[in-house]
Amino acid sequence: MDTLEDVAREVCACTDCPLHQSRTNAVPGEGPADAEVLFIGEGPGYQEDRQGRPFVGPAGGFLEDLLQSIGMTRDQVYIANMVKCRPPDNRDPAPGEIAACSKYLERQIELIAPRLIVTLGRFSTGRFLPGQTISRVRGRLRSVDGRQIFPIMHPAAGLRRQEMRVAIEEDFAKLAGLLDVLRLQADPASEPAGIPEPHGLEPHHISDTAAGYEPASQTATPAPSFWDVPPAAPPPAPAEPPSIEPPAPDEPLPGQLPLL
Ligand code: URA
Ligand code: SF4
Repeated sequence: MDTLEDVAREVCACTDCPLHQSRTNAVPGEGPADAEVLFIGEGPGYQEDRQGRPFVGPAGGFLEDLLQSIGMTRDQVYIANMVKCRPPDNRDPAPGEIAACSKYLERQIELIAPRLIVTLGRFSTGRFLPGQTISRVRGRLRSVDGRQIFPIMHPAAGLRRQEMRVAIEEDFAKLAGLLDVLRLQADPASEPAGIPEPHGLEPHHISDTAAGYEPASQTATPAPSFWDVPPAAPPPAPAEPPSIEPPAPDEPLPGQLPLL
């Protein structure tokens, strides 16, 4: 049977795109095989290339702080990237490189089968929501081909721009509650994790800013009406199908944050 170790071994030997020529180490990804949450970044940076591990540079430090703010640690989650080898000078990965590398991420998603996929930045968000801007879709849960997707801006953007840091922190603050709701839906007997309210956000802010759930096509299961579900409530009654917004046209919104 295919395992995450098989994927990692193949990644480390891969020469399927030009990025293999300049890499020091490939960065397959890391975390428990049964992780509840899969984070998908863009590609390794300088530190990641040196160490062969994802998110171990400055953006990784911020990601760890964000996880800590919701009572989690990096060894509880799986962390992967769109491309497994560093683009030289941290340039954007090219479409052909992403295409060549996608087979590894697909296998990782299948093997981990996470409850929630958090896409970090526009490249991994584009894998699930092509044609959408990250500033439009961030901070809202989507169901795409049966996977629950929660896009967030890339932590590296938060290190450069204060307003992006705030946006990322806001979206992270939603994550803990979101996970509780998804757990409850999967197992109505489960207890909320009881994670303390993340500082800086009152509960009513969370529900006020949560724009809701937008199922995309091919959703296998009824879409959860999260945010409506009280964390400690008994199993929710069979939900009304939530209102389905048509895919938003990719146009700038007033006050839209600049793209990462
Ligand atoms: N940025 C990414 O997108 N991935 C990493 O692994 C590190 C920084
Ligand atoms: Fe292979 Fe992906 Fe590395 Fe390209 S980036 S060489 S496809 S592992």
